Amino acid sequence: MTDAPTPPSKLLLRALAGETLPVPPVWMMRQAGRYLPEYRATRAQAGDFLSLCYNPELAAEVTLQPIRRFGFDAAILFADILLVPQALGLDLWFVTGEGPRLSPIMEKGGVAALKPAEAIHEHLAPVYETVRILSRELPRETALIGFAGAPWTVATYMIAGRGTPDQGPAHALKAENRAEFDALIDRITEATIEYLSAQVAAGAETVKIFDSWAGSLEGDDLDRYSIAPMARITAALKARHPGLPVIAFPRGAGERFADAARAIGADCIAIDDAVSPEWAARHVQPLACVQGNLASRHMVTGGAEMVAEIRRIREALSQGPHVFNLGHGITPDADPDNVALMIETLRERR
Ligand code: CP3
Repeated sequence: MTDAPTPPSKLLLRALAGETLPVPPVWMMRQAGRYLPEYRATRAQAGDFLSLCYNPELAAEVTLQPIRRFGFDAAILFADILLVPQALGLDLWFVTGEGPRLSPIMEKGGVAALKPAEAIHEHLAPVYETVRILSRELPRETALIGFAGAPWTVATYMIAGRGTPDQGPAHALKAENRAEFDALIDRITEATIEYLSAQVAAGAETVKIFDSWAGSLEGDDLDRYSIAPMARITAALKARHPGLPVIAFPRGAGERFADAARAIGADCIAIDDAVSPEWAARHVQPLACVQGNLASRHMVTGGAEMVAEIRRIREALSQGPHVFNLGHGITPDADPDNVALMIETLRERR
């Protein structure tokens, strides 16, 4: 028995620590989701999506389902990025077939009416319990990923009260009431630090910050509202939890994924499929581990085209640290057999 720190043995954590592995570890965004019949059954048992998020036993169960079925190298906590605005005091509900709805923040008294960041824990306690169950129940080789939305992406939902194609209402508030917008970004940033820190305390071994709408921020706005808040969250988490690896996903950043890799201080940059793996190998991988980036549609169509694309991505990113993943979440119409074939293809010639 010794207290000396041991290097990580889980493949995901080794890649995040900068190791170039012969076969990249693999997991998938939305790997617990509607393309799996066992997920649909458990969700029906829970009642609805939010009840599932707040039921630690069932949330842990759906997190484990894709691990049992496919043997992914990592599990991602089952929850949603919109639980944070709910914990800050906004109403949240999901309309089946349409998506999330929130009470728009400016109709609810603005930032002044939100709860302080430290007040979120009581509401989010069931999520921390899910993490504790998972850290007990996951296979020893499977890493546990916690997550949150990035401040800009979460703000777009809090401002509009729903998903929007161009994030117009958030851009409008930014243009018309900069002080209120900045205060909102700050409050979400503080709450996200609290939330992710509690997930780590409960057993998450790494965290991923999803900035799904980073691509609609241009120029200085990308630095100020996507990169800077993610950098602040990363620095605060690393100060509280020395050695914690962080994954950042400024989706849609394009060429600016390289700036994100330089400025966020994350160990890994997740890329979408709008940039090529060859470009990422040149411009991002020298700075950070790269996660990605098979287009989700291949999980629907499969076949030789999918296999060729997996081999191309793996080859392009084989000279540095790489975590294999999709460019965005798997869709409900995906075929689970294609997921199995993806993993088999990746692990061939091991
Ligand atoms: O990846 C995982 O398996 C972990 C769980 C997870 C979910 N949402 C579960 C979920 C994660 C990491 C998220 C992140 C999330 N949620 C993001 C960022 C990532 C991204 O996809 O860009 C965003 C923008 C949300 C907000 C959200 N949640 C939307 C817009 C929707 C509706 C769209 C849809 O796919 O129906 C959700 C619902 C949601 N979150 C589902 C799941 C499995 C589907 C809900 C259901 O079961 O009906």
